[in-house]
Amino acid sequence: MKKVGIIGVGEYLPERVLTNADLEKMVDTSDEWITTRTGIKQRRLAAKGQATSDLAANAAREALSQAKLGPEDLDLIIVATITPDMPFPATACFVQAKLGAKNAACFDISAACAGFVYALSIAQQFICRGTYKFALVIGAETLSAVTDWKDRNTCVLFGDGAAACVLAEVSSGGILSAYIGSDGTRTDLLQMPGGGSRNPATAATVENHMHYLKMQGNELFKLAVKIMADASGIALKKAGLEVKDIDLVIPHQANLRIINSVAKKVGLAEDKIYLNIAKYGNMSSASTATALCEAVKEGRVKKGDNVLLVAFGAGLVWGACVIEW
Ligand code: ACO
Repeated sequence: MKKVGIIGVGEYLPERVLTNADLEKMVDTSDEWITTRTGIKQRRLAAKGQATSDLAANAAREALSQAKLGPEDLDLIIVATITPDMPFPATACFVQAKLGAKNAACFDISAACAGFVYALSIAQQFICRGTYKFALVIGAETLSAVTDWKDRNTCVLFGDGAAACVLAEVSSGGILSAYIGSDGTRTDLLQMPGGGSRNPATAATVENHMHYLKMQGNELFKLAVKIMADASGIALKKAGLEVKDIDLVIPHQANLRIINSVAKKVGLAEDKIYLNIAKYGNMSSASTATALCEAVKEGRVKKGDNVLLVAFGAGLVWGACVIEW
């Protein structure tokens, strides 16, 4: 089996910033509530007409340039998203056309906030077996399009963004372990009920707000802490490492209190956790992706460092991955 690592990262955050103060004017909330309950101060919103593939392609261009590759070098493009441009075709195909990556096989995966970790583990399989040489993995979301801006329980939490990485064979280090899991008995906790084959779009589904995401935050909170802590332990064990061997943890950025509780449970020092939740909120699959990209750009991840990515989301789905940089 070949060793598989990340040879380039890139990100794209839309320009428009929506602050907690802006939200105070839209729903019955306060900067104080949002900050203390979630750790979020602001989030980015896609411009009108800007779709997930637009964000994804911008992030991909930066990742390709960092990897010193052209679009035609790509054998595979996987976009992890729950906010595709359209139900079909795959957002990855739109990205392919935007990049001119004509030699790539393209598909999307739907694994919500764990999507980026899922996509990394899938791409790794293709490269470690020698099926493909270069894979582009993207976490990209336009959650603003499925957010009910009148529902204070959810609208303060989410944002838009994208990040990408290029995977290839590496001579040392790389992905040491990747663990993914699911529990389909709790699909009720976070979902967008309208628009699929269960509830096709009608005037009634629109009237009943069924094209917005619905969440039972309280219940998810407890599960997120337990599952992310357990997943971290499993990925570490698979990598043959202990908590003390990890240099940086990149957790899914849904809620600062969830992250702190996971850290406490796992026994992680706060200075080993990378955070960007205050700037961007929860961007689902794009959260771990942008956090990894920014940690690399800021020099928080150095050659030889062990990085742990861990995520949890709607499905339920979860994943954790240890990478030696
Ligand atoms: N402003 C002010 N008050 C609010 C707001 C708001 N924006 N939102 C809710 N409240 C109120 C509620 O109405 C409630 O009031 P009540 O007690 O009078 O009924 C009170 O605040 C407490 O509400 P809770 O839901 O209990 O608040 P909690 O502390 O649980 O925080 C939150 C809510 C932030 C959603 C939290 O539960 C959470 O982060 N959950 C996990 C989210 C998650 O991990 N999702 C999975 C990943 S996302 C993905 O897959 C796309």
